[in-house]
Amino acid sequence: MSRFNAIRGFKDIRPEEAPLWRRLEEAAREVARRYDFEELRVPAAERTEVFARSLGEATDVVEKEMYSFTDKSGESLTLRPEATAGMMRAVLEHNLAEGGRPARLFCFGPMFRYERPQKGRLRQFHQLDVEIYGDPGPGADAELLAWLAAFLRELGLGDLSIRLNSLGCPVCRPAFRARLTEFLTARADALCPDCRRRLGLNPLRVMDCKHEACRAALEAAPRTLDHLCPGCAGHFETLKELLTALGLAFQIEPLLVRGLDYYTRTAFEILSGDLGAQNAVAGGGRYDGLARELGGADLPAVGFAAGLERLAMLLKDRAPAVAAGPDCYLAVLHPSAMLPAFKLAEALRGQGLRVAADWAPGSLKSRLKRADKLGAARVFMLGEDEMTSRRATVRDLASHEQSLFDLTPYLT
Ligand code: HAM
Repeated sequence: MSRFNAIRGFKDIRPEEAPLWRRLEEAAREVARRYDFEELRVPAAERTEVFARSLGEATDVVEKEMYSFTDKSGESLTLRPEATAGMMRAVLEHNLAEGGRPARLFCFGPMFRYERPQKGRLRQFHQLDVEIYGDPGPGADAELLAWLAAFLRELGLGDLSIRLNSLGCPVCRPAFRARLTEFLTARADALCPDCRRRLGLNPLRVMDCKHEACRAALEAAPRTLDHLCPGCAGHFETLKELLTALGLAFQIEPLLVRGLDYYTRTAFEILSGDLGAQNAVAGGGRYDGLARELGGADLPAVGFAAGLERLAMLLKDRAPAVAAGPDCYLAVLHPSAMLPAFKLAEALRGQGLRVAADWAPGSLKSRLKRADKLGAARVFMLGEDEMTSRRATVRDLASHEQSLFDLTPYLT
């Protein structure tokens, strides 16, 4: 026990949990390879303005949840609450989307949001982010959803379905926004204080509110899908056709707006009934205006992020990993065996085997117990007699068969 615990909402990933995380990362890398995506690693912090401009001033993330601080030079920095803004900053800074074909990038890493911790909601959590830059068509949206579905299938979670909506674009959204504002203003008394305040800032935020009263007020509200311009309507129709052709199940969710403001046209989420209140496994959409917001030229983009803690929770329940033990355990039973045991361990490791050992000499009984606990496949017994006979007894712990192993090369 130490005097200190991890910070509230920040969690250690313990050694017994690490294989599950590796499985998530390996599955993602394998799918990235098949879909021809490259890895981009961006810093854990950016200038606060990068997020404030990208995510929207009236979002919960920017209003309440950012870990912002002033550094020693007086600059306001923020631990990234999500990766999309920082990735776009990097894509623009390094011109990654210029040249012949769209940039197709993925990124893993910790994100930080000052939320109230609960099951499936942490203050430091991890995301897999997958993004396509430079392709304005619905094909890119469909390919990303296929990517996500392939990733979930690879993990054995192929039964999760997609919730889909279109949020329009700068051509059709202003008129929709005006209608929604008019509708909600007439019902302002029924809204929660947060939504009443946000009504003037961004009425679409109300569509994301979880309060019962606000949800009830929204029942008869105008829907974005009924107010799309021909460009957005065509994009959405083709996307639906592509998803159907790919055999990807989806459900239209007319109130889906997502918690961030940068989305244009496509918005989607993947929910799981097995997660309780925090049921979104992944979310994303198109954000064609973000590059300009960050001072770049027009660069259409679409992407998603999956929450790795939530996927780990699903995997743990549905397909627990079987922890494998070392290939060999070296039981050092006498001080004279220590040096040969070291040499033998290095030689076995050199052959690619996983080798565990305890170097302080102990009794055979205690060492066999330990090998058993570690789940070792075989034990090399290295005592005084073995040093004299130059042969170690090797016991296979599953079959209990024993054999002799020549120690001569390790004795000099
Ligand atoms: P988001 O919906 O805010 O989207 O987060 C994506 C996923 O991260 C969620 O579906 C959830 O699984 C996980 N997540 C979010 N907050 C927490 C938390 N406090 N604790 C645990 N897991 C959490 C984005 O972040 C966008 N950047 C997605 C995107 C990428 N859009 C376009 N490209």
